[in-house]
Amino acid sequence: MSELPIPSELITCLRAAHRITALTGAGISAESGVPTFREAQTGLWARYNPEELATPEAFQRDPKLVWEWYAWRQERVRQAKPNPGHLALADIERHAGEFSLITQNVDGLHRRAGSHQVLELHGNLFRAKCFNEDRPVENWPDSDDIPPRCPRCGGLLRPDVVWFGESLPVAVLRAAEQAAANANVFLSIGTSSLVYPAADLPFIALKSGAAVVEINPQPTPLSPHATFSLNGASGIILPALAAQVWGEQGHH
Ligand code: OAD
Repeated sequence: MSELPIPSELITCLRAAHRITALTGAGISAESGVPTFREAQTGLWARYNPEELATPEAFQRDPKLVWEWYAWRQERVRQAKPNPGHLALADIERHAGEFSLITQNVDGLHRRAGSHQVLELHGNLFRAKCFNEDRPVENWPDSDDIPPRCPRCGGLLRPDVVWFGESLPVAVLRAAEQAAANANVFLSIGTSSLVYPAADLPFIALKSGAAVVEINPQPTPLSPHATFSLNGASGIILPALAAQVWGEQGHH
């Protein structure tokens, strides 16, 4: 099997790193069959209007439509499996010294692949919270209500994901910023680098002196600033990178 062209400077850099931080976006789950957001034709935002589905106002206007759209997305993710890109990141967590994984994804596939420490910046499709109280709700009585009702206050339940116009969970964002600032190597994987504050994280890492590695088949606004750009699918590149850095030959 021919080896993918991973620059030897990058391999050296990763072996020497004390702390590695990775940020993932929808692209890492693309090879699992989970649609991305902004790709022409296949992206969710090419087919659906975020204003009608992913804002608090949309939920107030039509809570049933929004709840059912997220139920449909849950179902797609249930049918999907982690791909070699997710598995390679779980492997890197086991082999690298200090490793932080930050994701913008709400699909939970990193945990299903075996990653233990995952900072979920945009929440999780499989959790719900009360729209009124903004508190997590784990169980609710069976009923025909769509959306179901909060067992504490009777308010409507909503998915525990971050919508347009909402803030990210503060503690998670702080932890992500810290992991970016402390990294020697920062990997930006499968994200269009357009959505803030996540898109700031590689720049925080760069300012603190980290090498920034972008893994994406397409260029993004981050590309001109990246120290290394690996143009390709994360499901191919990440396993090759993990094998070359921490595989048989990679162990000291
Ligand atoms: P996007 O849909 O904006 O970008 C997906 C990126 O993945 C693109 O740059 C693709 O080129 C790349 N890509 C596609 N296939 C890939 C593959 N096999 N391997 C590696 N990369 C691949 O998704 P995000 O950047 O995640 O927010 O979007 C950020 C946020 O915008 C999402 O978390 C979501 C959305 O609105 C919320 O819902 C809050």
